[in-house]
This record gives sequence, C-alpha cells and structure tokens, in this order.
Amino acid sequence: MKIIETVGEVQADARERTSRSVLVPTMGALHRGHLELVRVAREHAGKDGEVAVSIFVNPLQFEPGSDFEKYPRPESVDENVCRDAGVNLLFRPNDMYFDDRSVYVEETALSAGLCGAARPGHFRGVCTVVAKLFNLLAPDAAVFGEKDHQQLAIIRRMVRDLNFPIEIIGVPTVREADGLALSSRNQYLNADERAQATVLYRAMTRVKELADGGQKSVGELIDVAKGVIASAKSARVDYISIVDADNLQPLGVLQPNAVIALAVFVGKTRLIDNLRLW
Ligand code: PAF
Repeated sequence: MKIIETVGEVQADARERTSRSVLVPTMGALHRGHLELVRVAREHAGKDGEVAVSIFVNPLQFEPGSDFEKYPRPESVDENVCRDAGVNLLFRPNDMYFDDRSVYVEETALSAGLCGAARPGHFRGVCTVVAKLFNLLAPDAAVFGEKDHQQLAIIRRMVRDLNFPIEIIGVPTVREADGLALSSRNQYLNADERAQATVLYRAMTRVKELADGGQKSVGELIDVAKGVIASAKSARVDYISIVDADNLQPLGVLQPNAVIALAVFVGKTRLIDNLRLW
C-alpha cells in the first residue's frame, strides 16, 4: 500500500496512473461501514484497478465549538485497517489548506434544510474538501455511504453542476444487529445511551410499516416517529423530516421517492439516520 501525505505528491501520482481508480473519502476512525465502502470500491475498480482511501479530518466542516479537536484520529490502526482491506493508496494529507485560503465550493439549495439548517457552513466544508480531493486524485469514481443521505445528494449535485467526470456510488448503510447505523460517533455513547440509540431505527421502521400500510399523511407519520423517540429518556429530536430523496424538499403527503431523515441527540451525541419509505 502506497502512503502519500502531501498534495503535490498525490497529484504527481494521479498524473502517472494508468489504471481505473476509485476513491473512498473518509475522516478516518475506520469501522465496518468504511470497510463496506472499500469493498464496493474494489468491486468497481476491478482487481487491477486502484482503490484509494483518503483520511483527513476536515476542519472546514466542523462548526465552531463542535468536536473537531476531540474527533478520533487512530492513525496507525487506520493504516493497518487499510492495508488489511487491500487498499492500494492511502492519502492522508498534512497540507490540505492554505492559511489565507479564500475560495470555497458551496451548494445553495439542498444544503439549506435537514443537517444544513442545524450546522451552518458544514456542507460548504464538505463540498470544498471533496472537490479538492477530486481535483487532486482525479478518480474515475468515488464511493459515499447512504447514511449521510443529504451529503450524498449534495455531492451528486456538485458533480453534476461542476461537471466533475466522476461517477458517484452510494452504498447502503451498514447496521448493527439491533439496527443502529454504524458511525464513528457511536463510540461517544456510554452503555445506557448505546442501548437507547436503537430508537432512531425503531422510529424509522415504525413509520415505514405505517407507510406500507397506506398512511400518507407526513404530519401523522412524523408525530409517530416523535412518539417513538420520546420513549427513550436520553433522546432529544434535532429534526425529523420526510423529503424527496433527490431534491430534499419536505413532502406534505407521502409520494414515490420519499425518504425519512432524522437527527437525534442521544445524551450529548448527535446521531443521524435515514430510511427510504417509497
Ligand atoms: O463523510 C465523511 O466522512 C466526510 O464528510 C467526507 C465526505 C470524508 C468529507 O470530509
């Protein structure tokens, strides 16, 4: 496995590459969910292609006062995980941004609601770093988890609007046996909170059952979800929305392409999840 730590070297490496390359952008603290992204990346790259993983805890996507400093950075563990998973290139840059940077990439429609409303500047940070990674590594395709549904929709829009010649591949969420979506943030939960964190999946699956049974009123469905979340004493809803999966516009009545997306604090940890309803 090749390890590259500077933007100059990774650009030079990309210029010389002749094989197909698939990028898995991450912030490290790799878990089974990331391994699934790597597995799908290998499927798309082929056995002679290149699977590249980037690990960069991107300061631009953390709002002031959030968990940037304490975000886990298990460097050597992550390196071994990548090696064992058959990754060809690990890019962990130490020179991503200029101190006097003044150009950003901002998506202005899909970023407004859901997590974007609660986290101003977050998706500008995500788009800016992903655009930079795309320019630096020039992959043929890039893989993102569907757990961050809004992020995936915004990146697809960025690629469309800015004509990046890169295929975007969404990978279904990997869950624990009890339904909790895998996330680097799960490690912040204590045992009691971890047990209560299943409430996100329980709320979404209850809504899906009702939707499958013919309930079309989004207001009623969201009330049911709120009720399920309220049954967990450490859980507090940040938002629960039912939106169109592509344009992320809130729906009044259930219709094809509907997805339920939610963010819930369990103790101090903010967890997000989503489930396709139609
Ligand atoms: O999903 C993430 O881990 C990050 O938002 C990403 C896409 C690696 C950009 O920093």
